[in-house]
Amino acid sequence: MKRALITGIRGQDGAYLSRLLLEKGYEVYGADRRSGDSSFWRLAELGIERDVKVRYMDLLELTNVMREVEKIGPDEVYNLAAQSFVQASFEQPIITADIDAVGVLRLLEALRTLKADTRFYQASTSEMFGKVQSIPQSEKTPFYPRSPYGVAKLYGHWITVNYRESYGMFTCSGILFNHESPLRGLEFVTRKITRGLAQIKLGLLDKIVLGNMDSKRDWGYAPEYVEAMWMMLQQKSPDDYVIATGETHTVREFVEFSMKHAGFDLAWEGEGAGEKGIDRKTGRTLVEISAEFFRPAEVDILVGNPEKAAETFGWRPKTRFEELARIMVEADIKRIERSRS
Ligand code: NAP
Ligand code: GDD
Repeated sequence: MKRALITGIRGQDGAYLSRLLLEKGYEVYGADRRSGDSSFWRLAELGIERDVKVRYMDLLELTNVMREVEKIGPDEVYNLAAQSFVQASFEQPIITADIDAVGVLRLLEALRTLKADTRFYQASTSEMFGKVQSIPQSEKTPFYPRSPYGVAKLYGHWITVNYRESYGMFTCSGILFNHESPLRGLEFVTRKITRGLAQIKLGLLDKIVLGNMDSKRDWGYAPEYVEAMWMMLQQKSPDDYVIATGETHTVREFVEFSMKHAGFDLAWEGEGAGEKGIDRKTGRTLVEISAEFFRPAEVDILVGNPEKAAETFGWRPKTRFEELARIMVEADIKRIERSRS
């Protein structure tokens, strides 16, 4: 039985990856930085709360990381832990760097010292492309990060490459574009929209307040993306791969498709900060814009080219944009209905 250690076990990807590895017969260890809070709602939603062996491990504490790596002796490590919210990284750039950059190094140092034959996956990100230097972005596109998060993740990416080249370790960097699901954190725009819409529909919220509606993202479905993580670590040799759908859409389009699935007939009125989303049937304002949610520097467009992953191990996205919005809206409506019944 293979043993996997997943950091960031409480997160969206940690939950889906745990389920996948359990289905494949792995013994799954989940690293969790919190003590005393025993609610693992994502693992519980997937029905695997009791199947993951949770260990107390914070990427900020080297000795803690080393002790856990030594005790577990993993065959594979998936480093998903991060301060992953781009907007927060502008307010907390130092802690973001400590977790998302040096945290990767701590884990790699622990593995180099204690178990250098471990296969290692680093959760890199399309945010590293930032002010994009070409469209679409592939493994060959130069990086130009636009946030402290992107800069920190770029260090994590290069140190992963460096440990492969310096010490012959099996380290892979997955450059994943945005991936969403009903388990997405509420701070991210897709889930903020779908949860907000469900609340509006059921009379629990007046309107959703958003920031930049013109930025474009390549949005995929998270359960498919964790499969790519696993596939990378099963190859003969380690490498880096872009994982994306190859389609890009604005935040505005995500609002429009989600509204449609929630049964609203949306019309836009006004411009810039004064723009509003109005329900045609009732005349009610459902969407407003606030400067609070704009970023000091924005990533205007992301669209990835996942050809290398397709050619090397046959990974291809299945769920498309409109379907993703539908899955998320329906899940949020069901959740609220369940909690009220
Ligand atoms: P997420 O839901 O925010 O989960 C990240 C997890 O990391 C959280 O559970 C968090 O713990 C944990 N964590 C934070 N600081 C830690 C520390 N010091 N020590 C140990 N654990 C810590 O993120 P996700 O969406 O699942 O994404 C997984 C990874 O992929 C992240 O590294 C993210 O940056 C990267 N990524 C995500 C996407 C995407 O679109 N989802 C795209 C590209 C890359 P708490 O629960 O205690 O806060
Ligand atoms: N969060 C948020 N909240 N974003 C908003 C809002 C809002 O109210 N209004 C507009 N946006 C815009 C942001 O300015 C950004 O352009 C876009 O919506 C997406 O924002 P997020 O959902 O926060 O995601 P992200 O693209 O910044 O970062 C996510 O994807 C990265 C991969 O590209 C995160 O998952 C990162 O961890 C990940 O690396």
